[in-house]
Amino acid sequence: VPLFLLFTLVLSGCSSILGDDPSPLNPKGSVGEDQLFLIKLSLFVMTGVLVIVFVLFGYVVIRFRKRKNQTGVPKQTEGSHVLEIVWTVIPLVLLLILAVPMVTQTFALAKDYSESEEAEQVKVIGHQFWWEFQYPEHGIYTAQDLVIPVNTKIAFELTSADVIHSFWIPGLGGKMDTNPGMTNKFYLDAEEVGTYKGKCAELCGASHALMDFKVQVVTQEEYEAWVASMKEPSQAVNEQDALAQGQEIFKAKCMSCHAIDGTQPGVYPNLKGFADRELVAGIKENNAEWIRKWIDDPQSIKPGTLMPNVDLTDDELDALTEYLQSLKLE
Ligand code: CUA
Repeated sequence: VPLFLLFTLVLSGCSSILGDDPSPLNPKGSVGEDQLFLIKLSLFVMTGVLVIVFVLFGYVVIRFRKRKNQTGVPKQTEGSHVLEIVWTVIPLVLLLILAVPMVTQTFALAKDYSESEEAEQVKVIGHQFWWEFQYPEHGIYTAQDLVIPVNTKIAFELTSADVIHSFWIPGLGGKMDTNPGMTNKFYLDAEEVGTYKGKCAELCGASHALMDFKVQVVTQEEYEAWVASMKEPSQAVNEQDALAQGQEIFKAKCMSCHAIDGTQPGVYPNLKGFADRELVAGIKENNAEWIRKWIDDPQSIKPGTLMPNVDLTDDELDALTEYLQSLKLE
């Protein structure tokens, strides 16, 4: 019973962390639904066994308790073929009920779509402490906001640039480790347009808990438009423009690490369309205040991040923030 209560407590923790958002218990994709079925099936079987065992236990304890004036050893029963067959067959049947769907689903969900025409290919690279997304079919690179089309299989190829991370979108299904020097594959799909939370699910350093990302599930048309605008070269700001100062600072301090063209690979987060993203650094609301704080002192927001402190005056910070907020997709 204490174990069961603990389990309930753990599950109730999930709902408070994930809120009303899509979660493993409220999935919005076929993979997540299949996984939820397995969760429910095993919970159902386990609960059934637990209840029956405890009811029997309670009955035996009460029915055969030591009565007043009772002495000596009670009548003993030895050997019963019927009982032995019953308690061998029942667990066997229960194991089969669990094993058949588990094994079937495991193979079905492991299907490789990486060469498939019907699937969209996305490469995921885990970094301490951010996510890189590459779209090899389109030659585009982005970070932190994963954009995918609705009702399409997304074939993920996962790897890591440093330590082991784990790529998890609780509302869609998963999860899968990203390992350095290795490529793991799996697929997901989303049946509803919307924004989903993504998390790193493997302890990977000081800011593991802050290694979040967003998943934007969009319609097929929106997705095509997004791909097209990601391919558009970023327009340089005119020297007379108010944003020129910010652009200068960006070129001097940021550009050696951060690309702003979506077709350009980079070692650090690609900032094409940065202003359209929901979050700064994957965890804070994307507004001037947080952009400023992030540039001013990244360690205070994500301990252990490789983003350096850039020495800027208040005016320069404002100018750079304004420039970053202009990085919108056409
Ligand atoms: Cu990356 Cu935990």
